[in-house]
Amino acid sequence: MPLEVIPDKREMAIRAEEFRRDGRRIAFVPTMGFLHAGHVSLLEEGRRRGDVLVLSIFVNPIQFGPNEDLARYPRDLPGDLEKARRAGVDVAFVPEPAQMYTEGFQTSVEVREIARGLCGDKRPGHFVGVATVVTKLFHIIKPHVALFGEKDYQQLAVIRRMVLDLDFDIEVLGMPIVREPDELAMSSRNAYLSGEERQKALVLSRTLNLAEEMVREGERDAARVLSAARALINSVGGVRIDYVDLRDAVTLAEVARIERPTLLAVAAFVGKTRLIDNRVLTPRS
Ligand code: PAF
Repeated sequence: MPLEVIPDKREMAIRAEEFRRDGRRIAFVPTMGFLHAGHVSLLEEGRRRGDVLVLSIFVNPIQFGPNEDLARYPRDLPGDLEKARRAGVDVAFVPEPAQMYTEGFQTSVEVREIARGLCGDKRPGHFVGVATVVTKLFHIIKPHVALFGEKDYQQLAVIRRMVLDLDFDIEVLGMPIVREPDELAMSSRNAYLSGEERQKALVLSRTLNLAEEMVREGERDAARVLSAARALINSVGGVRIDYVDLRDAVTLAEVARIERPTLLAVAAFVGKTRLIDNRVLTPRS
């Protein structure tokens, strides 16, 4: 089936209805475009999970704060569509903001506890913007399965909670972080980094490796792991910590001891670019 590109939400909703009427299972990968190997891994898994693969490309204005990078967020629709074709996408839904947020728009979806802390505190309103747009995309595309990257760990937890709480009949699949050969986590925002900043950014994955090693060697005290993690990041000039935190990997509640699978989540500014990375630390019992 050749790639269909649909900018109109009503047309997209009608196509989705047709797929469902024909008994086809819809796999859906929501993105903000500027696709990289991480997105492609979601598309490839989506291809395996569904009879029809739908990709959305929409830079969602309501999930950006006033001082964030909405205006300069990287975009490359022709390049994205080429990658989508190669990954076997059937439909690319590419709405304009005015399509998604018609005049007078005033409704939002808020997931509470799990959206607090980490990026939720540092980016007020971000997860309301994400939950709202994902709800809209779910209604329009009517997927059976939706795939999200584990790099946005808290986002995935928010979506899972929302799907449960609002009774969406959708399987949510989290996919592992895809890394460059030097271990930098793939992100559309890596495009902002200069050569020097890119080198400095490697301290994020080194921090995850250090913490993993400490836990492997028996460290269970969260404060000691956090202190070592912060010291390592602070040792690199031009890198500023936004947060470094350890949370229960399931509930995202704060932890004092690493006795169960525990998320180490890191956000830092490398120059002006805010990057995030994470790893689940699993202590040997
Ligand atoms: O992860 C993203 O790219 C976005 O937050 C999402 C899920 C597409 C919602 O805009």
